[in-house]
Amino acid sequence: MYKYGSGERPDHSLAVVVGAGAMGMAVAHRLAQRHRVLLADIDGDRAESEAAAMRDGGCDASAIACDVTSPEAVAALADAVSEQGGLGVLAHVAGLSPSAQDFHLIVRVNLLGAALVADALLPLARQGSAAILIASMAAHSFAAPEPVLEVLSEPNATDVAEKLAQAIGPESVNPGMAYAYSKQGLLLYARRNAAAWGAKGARIVSLSPGMIATPMGAREFEASEQKRKMFAASPLEREGTMPEIADAVEFLASDRASFISGTDLLVDGGLTAALKG
Ligand SMILES: NC(=O)c1ccc[n+]([C@@H]2O[C@H](COP(=O)([O-])OP(=O)(O)OC[C@H]3O[C@@H](n4cnc5c(N)ncnc54)[C@H](O)[C@@H]3O)[C@@H](O)[C@H]2O)c1
Repeated sequence: MYKYGSGERPDHSLAVVVGAGAMGMAVAHRLAQRHRVLLADIDGDRAESEAAAMRDGGCDASAIACDVTSPEAVAALADAVSEQGGLGVLAHVAGLSPSAQDFHLIVRVNLLGAALVADALLPLARQGSAAILIASMAAHSFAAPEPVLEVLSEPNATDVAEKLAQAIGPESVNPGMAYAYSKQGLLLYARRNAAAWGAKGARIVSLSPGMIATPMGAREFEASEQKRKMFAASPLEREGTMPEIADAVEFLASDRASFISGTDLLVDGGLTAALKG
């Protein structure tokens, strides 16, 4: 039923944006131009206040508290998506950077969480749906050896972090490795699940941002000399912006990307290319 004076758009399909942080909200605002938006975040108050601000701005937005590492919370998210008529777009943006420090938590949020969410929402996808998993250029920095690839191939195992720690050995268990491998796992997940999404007429891709100007990115600059050195190699001599990531997500979510699935889009201003030479 249409409500006068509201921005409600029952005629639009639903975009689920997981992660109501800086980049997540840039993506949410952009997708809201053509979708209803459901924001999901472990911080339910943040998600709700961001959704309220979106509604004040004329968007159709709602929110749900969801810890993506909890199968029960993810099942509740899927129920909410089903109640709202099924999935148009999934943008999985939530993630922890190496400054979170905790190997297991980084792997669980970045990889297990994304896999649980995408697995749970696939049954609600339909012709034209698209899932976009935000990875990182860190996923492109080195190739995983075979035993690690085996672990990354089962990202929805609840003990994936423990298995990864075992596969890489104690000398490599650090937050940077958790980040790089969890993001490699997302690239692999999109590749391996293109057929399942394709069977529904839907697509799944990963998107690897390079250095993007966000509070999370700024924290990494503070903490990592390696990141400051890498910045010096940036072909465009600047960070990317959140609207530039939203541009790429908007494209990948749209019908203009209707033949793009099972692959990764690197949005890094050429930095990976410059580093690899
Ligand atoms: N900023 C960069 O330079 C850069 C570069 C490459 C990739 N990325 C990726 O971009 C993504 C988001 O960045 P951002 O700037 O929005 O970060 P952010 O820290 O602002 O937001 C992350 C959000 O994820 C939520 N979150 C954390 N754990 C969660 C959980 N268990 N369940 C649900 N939500 C949870 C947090 O509450 C927060 O709202 C991350 O995946 C990050 O790895 C960022």
